Amino acid sequence: MKKIEIVTSVIEYLENELPSDILELVNKAKKETEKSYAPYSNFRVGVAVLLTNGEIVLGNNQENAAYPSGLCAERTAVFYANSQFPNVAVDKIAIAAFTDNDFTNNPITPCGGCRQVLSEVETRFKKPITVILYGKKKTYLIKDIKSLMPLSFIKDNLINE
Ligand code: THU
Repeated sequence: MKKIEIVTSVIEYLENELPSDILELVNKAKKETEKSYAPYSNFRVGVAVLLTNGEIVLGNNQENAAYPSGLCAERTAVFYANSQFPNVAVDKIAIAAFTDNDFTNNPITPCGGCRQVLSEVETRFKKPITVILYGKKKTYLIKDIKSLMPLSFIKDNLINE
């Protein structure tokens, strides 16, 4: 028997400390919340995805009267990016959320389903995806999806070695 420790780390920034390229992406994610369709939760999530070819793909959450048929902003944006640029890796993803007439104070953290989808993209292109989670009080920067979801299920798990 042995104990394995998995350590993850997050860099915390105040808004005025953010490097300019990160701030630019955060501002695009914030702006994108305006186009969200969230009549049921009133929780408007915006995402900006920077691809390795320099393209920026935007997306937001799209809800539905049949609640489970809606889709999170992260998956809306990343699926659209992969559908339009099938051979281009994701470099960074910035996420922001707006509710009750303001952006959230704390960083918005992606749900498990979105982490799984982002994990597939990171694995597929063998390129770490930097994750930027915006909050008014603090913004988190995480170096890759693996750090957000250790022991994740990836395609190698389908092979019984
Ligand atoms: N949502 C996202 O779009 N991304 C997240 O990271 C968390 C939650 C959406 C789903 C739903 O439309 C609303 O926010 C409330 O859960």
